[in-house]
Amino acid sequence: MTSSDENFLLLLNLMSEAETEALGRRIAGVLKRGDTIALSGGLGAGKTLLARSIIRHFLPREEVPSPTFTLVQTYEAPAFRISHVDLYRVKDKSEIRELGLDEAMDEGVVLIEWPNRMGELLPRDRLDISFELEDDATERLAKVVARGSWVPRIEKLK
Ligand SMILES: Nc1ncnc2c1ncn2[C@@H]1O[C@H](COP(=O)(O)OP(=O)(O)O)[C@@H](O)[C@H]1O
Ligand SMILES: [Mg+2]
Repeated sequence: MTSSDENFLLLLNLMSEAETEALGRRIAGVLKRGDTIALSGGLGAGKTLLARSIIRHFLPREEVPSPTFTLVQTYEAPAFRISHVDLYRVKDKSEIRELGLDEAMDEGVVLIEWPNRMGELLPRDRLDISFELEDDATERLAKVVARGSWVPRIEKLK
């Protein structure tokens, strides 16, 4: 295994919406221009809630609707642009290429719901978060995997 393949894993039990929002604030606290965060999990798992809490850390008054239909919503935070992407409705990679995510990733931060739609277009340097619903309606298991530049930051997400 080379150092570029190094992964670091964090398992978090998020017992309530408030705990998911608190994770979003911890992520926001270490966010840098050029970061990508991939948010996986089924419908209603909490991907949009987490993205919203990250965006509101920088822009508290923003509404942050789900980008299900617009595919991309952009926000001008003071330090960088944040692109919130939802690929659920995307059918093929050519549609993804038209979204201009390369540029969004260079100049800002990109939060992606349904990142598996991107296949190899997904950058290797990223934070992966996948949510699983537990039996309790408000409990979520979040599996957080840090890759590349995220590895030294994962301690701050605990
Ligand atoms: N611990 C939790 N974390 C995230 N969402 C939760 C939690 N408990 C309940 N919810 C609810 O689950 C739903 C998650 O919706 P959303 O974030 O839009 O999901 P997704 O984007 O994954 O489809 C919201 O209605 C939210 O209030
Ligand atoms: Mg969503």
